[in-house]
Amino acid sequence: MSNTLAENNHTLSMNDIVSLCKRRGFIFQSSDIYGGLQGVYDYGPLGIELKNNLKNAWWRSMVYERDDIEGLDSSIIAHRLTLKHSGHEDTFTDPMVDCKECKARMREDLIKDGKCENCGSSNLTDPRMFNLMFKANFGPVENDDSFIYLRPETAQGIFTNFKNVLDSTSRKIPFGIAQIGKAFRNEITPRNFIFRVREFEQMELEFFVEPGTDEEWHDKWVQERYHWWIRQGLNKKNLKLEHQDKNELAHYAKATVDILYEFPHGAEELEGIANRTDFDLGSHSKNQEDLNLWAKVQPNQDSNQKLVAQDNQKQNSYVPYVIEPSAGLDRGVLAILAEGFTKEKLENGTERIVLKLKPHLAPIKAAVIPLAKNNEQIVQKAKEITRTLAKLGLGRIRYEDVGNVGKAYRRNDEVGTPFCITVDFDTFEGDTETVTIRHRDTMIQERITVSELPETIVKYYNID
Ligand code: GAP
Repeated sequence: MSNTLAENNHTLSMNDIVSLCKRRGFIFQSSDIYGGLQGVYDYGPLGIELKNNLKNAWWRSMVYERDDIEGLDSSIIAHRLTLKHSGHEDTFTDPMVDCKECKARMREDLIKDGKCENCGSSNLTDPRMFNLMFKANFGPVENDDSFIYLRPETAQGIFTNFKNVLDSTSRKIPFGIAQIGKAFRNEITPRNFIFRVREFEQMELEFFVEPGTDEEWHDKWVQERYHWWIRQGLNKKNLKLEHQDKNELAHYAKATVDILYEFPHGAEELEGIANRTDFDLGSHSKNQEDLNLWAKVQPNQDSNQKLVAQDNQKQNSYVPYVIEPSAGLDRGVLAILAEGFTKEKLENGTERIVLKLKPHLAPIKAAVIPLAKNNEQIVQKAKEITRTLAKLGLGRIRYEDVGNVGKAYRRNDEVGTPFCITVDFDTFEGDTETVTIRHRDTMIQERITVSELPETIVKYYNID
């Protein structure tokens, strides 16, 4: 399970990443103390910062830097009919087989040469279709009709809110609704760390367009999303666009282009950009009569909502087509970690691990290190600088008073801190106070005045 990444002059294994994540507090196995839940992970102190930074970058590019997209945060619990009419109840399945020898369970389409991936036996059951949605009981009474689903994609919450957003914002087609949130899939074989998991987050945009303009918008969004990932630091050499074959397409899609990333376990999907046509809005409009069935267990439901838009002359209404860029946030985090993970041989023969993250994604923006932990003047100045930089609002600034300076540099290199600022005895020499700022990737150190520190950090932070 290894692969040589284009710019990292070493062989990167998934274990390198898993062990860094655990050691430094990025990602932990969920329920670790009880033996772990397979395919479920928790983000630690640094992981949550990285994940939030990636989310914020996505939200900024979608909602703040454009004027044709609104945001949404819909519920995780999905109305049962939503997922019936979306097609998920009937078709969101994977073929599952069991090994008759070792009892391992696996996805048939991922098996190589018809052999059990655990013991190598060919003695497998016929495939059975397995629905990936998690069911939960809704309300205090448990009966056959009282269940709901945990949403398997955030998209359906966008479709069911289409009219709410349209009416409350007076938007005109084309426009989009963006959402970041949890999705749940009871994957038969979760694997490859946070690549395929049972609880994950998606960053999804549903962009509503006039039928007939959909193919052009599809192409635009593919380009837009591909270049966004490059701006997050992913190397072009590790990215690939792949058009899905007709037989691979999801039940709702007319065409889908996947953005593949060269993960440590191989090139796999990071994001899919689908042309969902009018499938979802059309289906949710058409199937309102089923509400009467559901009303038996859930009274007071709205009914007869036609999810349509009007043409510019307000003559006709039509069901818009949808272009959907759908990215996995956890897969994004994994790609960013894999891309940034670098082992470097230093001139003195030692090795350092550096996480070469773009500053806007780094969990810690700068570390402030007092050279002498027992010198009151140095310690006070370092704490004061930490407080000043924290107020810039760039993210976490860490006051580092553990170990010597060399170890503090290494520790910060490993977690991707772009700058270390050292307060030392020279700080108080001369007319103005000065500090050393050390750059993570080049290890170059420069001496600057304390007063120019905030603007210097902001300047470097903004360099693309
Ligand atoms: N709304 C469209 C949709 O959900 P998808 O291709 O099934 O399409 C979109 O999922 C993205 O969600 C994928 O490209 C992937 O990044 C992420 N994703 C899907 N299943 C996942 C899983 N089990 N674990 C982690 N990420 C997953």
